[in-house]
Amino acid sequence: MDEYLKNREMELANQELWESHAKWWQENFSEGADPEYEEQILPIVEQWAKGHTSVLEVGTGEGQVLRRVLTTTSDSLRLVVGLDPALAQVEVAKTRSSGVSFLRGSAPQLPFLRDSFDLVVACLVFEHILEVDEAISEVARVLAPKGTFIFLLNHPLLQTPGSGWIDDHILMEQYWRIGEYLTEDVSIEEVQKDVFIPFVHRPLSRYVNLLVQNGLYIEEMLEPPPPKGFLDQAWEYQEAASIPRLLALRLTKR
Ligand SMILES: C[S@@+](CC[C@H](N)C(=O)[O-])C[C@H]1O[C@@H](n2cnc3c(N)ncnc32)[C@H](O)[C@@H]1O
Repeated sequence: MDEYLKNREMELANQELWESHAKWWQENFSEGADPEYEEQILPIVEQWAKGHTSVLEVGTGEGQVLRRVLTTTSDSLRLVVGLDPALAQVEVAKTRSSGVSFLRGSAPQLPFLRDSFDLVVACLVFEHILEVDEAISEVARVLAPKGTFIFLLNHPLLQTPGSGWIDDHILMEQYWRIGEYLTEDVSIEEVQKDVFIPFVHRPLSRYVNLLVQNGLYIEEMLEPPPPKGFLDQAWEYQEAASIPRLLALRLTKR
C-alpha cells in the first residue's frame, strides 16, 4: 500500500482510539485532576497567549486550555475556536465552556481560510498525530503573518518510549535511561487497564526542521523541571526531578 494511504489509515485508527478513551483523559487530566496542567502547562499557555485576538486550539480535548486562555485574555479576544476529531471530547467541551466555538476536525485538514488566526495552540497533541508534515503545514497556513504558535509536547528527547528511572539493586546504580531516541516510532500504549492510546515518537530535529520549513521560528523554548505536585505523587519521581517531562515552544510565523 502506498505510504500516504497507510498513514491515512493509521491516523484514522488512532483517532478512533481517542474517541473510545476520551473519558479517561477527561477524568484524569482536566478540571484540576492533573498537577502538571495546573502548575505548569496552563500557566505557560496563559502567559504566552496574552494580547492575541483570534485563537485556534488544534486537538482541544475537553477545552481546558481555551478556558484558561479565555479567563485571562478575554479583553482582547474576538474569536476562540477549539477543534478535535473526537466527538466525545467536543461534546463535553461544549458543556464545560462558553464563548468558544468547538468543532470536529483533524490537524492535517484544518477547515479554515489562510491567515485566519493570530494564535494557534497545540498542547500535547502532535505526539498522537501521524501525518505531522501535513499538520504543521496546516498550522502555518491558517496562522496570520507574525502570528504565534504555542507548541507543547511531551519532551521528545527525555521521554522517548523506553525511557525511565532505573534503580538497579544488583549493580547499585540509579540513572535515567533514554530509549531509542533517533528511531521514529508509532506505539499503542496501555496507559491504564484497557485504555490504549497511540503515541508517535520523533526526534526533536524532525519537529524543528519541519517548523522552520513552514516559516515558523522559535522565539522561546522552555524545558521546565516537573512541578512539585507531580513530584509529590511518588518517590521515584523525586529521583528524576531534573529530567523535564515537558517541552514548550513559542514560535512566530515569518
Ligand atoms: C492528550 S489530549 C490533549 C487535549 C488538550 N489539548 C489538552 O491539553 O487538554 C490529545 C487530544 O488530541 C486529539 N487528537 C488526536 N488526533 C488528532 C488529530 N489528528 N488532529 C487533532 N487532534 C487530534 C485527541 O482526540 C485528544 O483530544
